[in-house]
Amino acid sequence: MSLIRLAYASEATFNEKPVEQGVEPNVARILMTSRKNNAKTQIVGGLYYGDGCFFQYLEGEEEAVKELYERIAADDRHRTVTTLVEEPLSARTFSNWSMKYVPLSSDVQNFLDRHGMKSFQPLNFTRPLCEEMIQLIRDSSEQGRVVNHSELASSRKAASSGTSGIGIGLVVAGVAIVGALIYAATML
Ligand SMILES: Cc1cc2nc3c(=O)[nH]c(=O)nc-3n(C[C@H](O)[C@H](O)[C@H](O)COP(=O)(O)O)c2cc1C
Repeated sequence: MSLIRLAYASEATFNEKPVEQGVEPNVARILMTSRKNNAKTQIVGGLYYGDGCFFQYLEGEEEAVKELYERIAADDRHRTVTTLVEEPLSARTFSNWSMKYVPLSSDVQNFLDRHGMKSFQPLNFTRPLCEEMIQLIRDSSEQGRVVNHSELASSRKAASSGTSGIGIGLVVAGVAIVGALIYAATML
């Protein structure tokens, strides 16, 4: 049984949703599947999505990681899947997570600023930049700044209940206007 580590970058094929609108639904779906599957195969790592690009780091049993990577590479939600790091690993470096997710965070912005990059373009990352990204994913999760599955679900629920709140508000306003019109008509 041998362990390997693998990092790749790719470009999303779906149109990016504005960041203010919360977690991109395609990314949320990928995370849900990843957490379900990776826990079973004991693959750990992290996923970062920004500026229409993915950076993913995976570590685990060689066979399991290679099988997963083949499946990921064939996924039509992204293209130009480019392997950046692939090598043997002597011991696991991530603790109890199946797939960490780093939302657009100030850490990544600092990382981009430090290297004079205007946007997140991981396809061009050199080896040292990849290692920095992997460390960033590891650190941010250890400090509890990643969004986990239940947080994702509740933030999505909050977003949708916000919308239905607006819906109720509009209905109430509509009823009030109709009421005012009827009242005005009776005064004529
Ligand atoms: C950027 C990206 C990263 C992904 N990462 C994973 C992953 O870590 N684990 C996983 O099982 N699927 C991942 N997927 C999804 C797989 O391509 C595939 O859809 C999924 O494994 C199928 O799982 P299912 O047979 O349980 O539906 C990823 C897809 C994309 C586009």
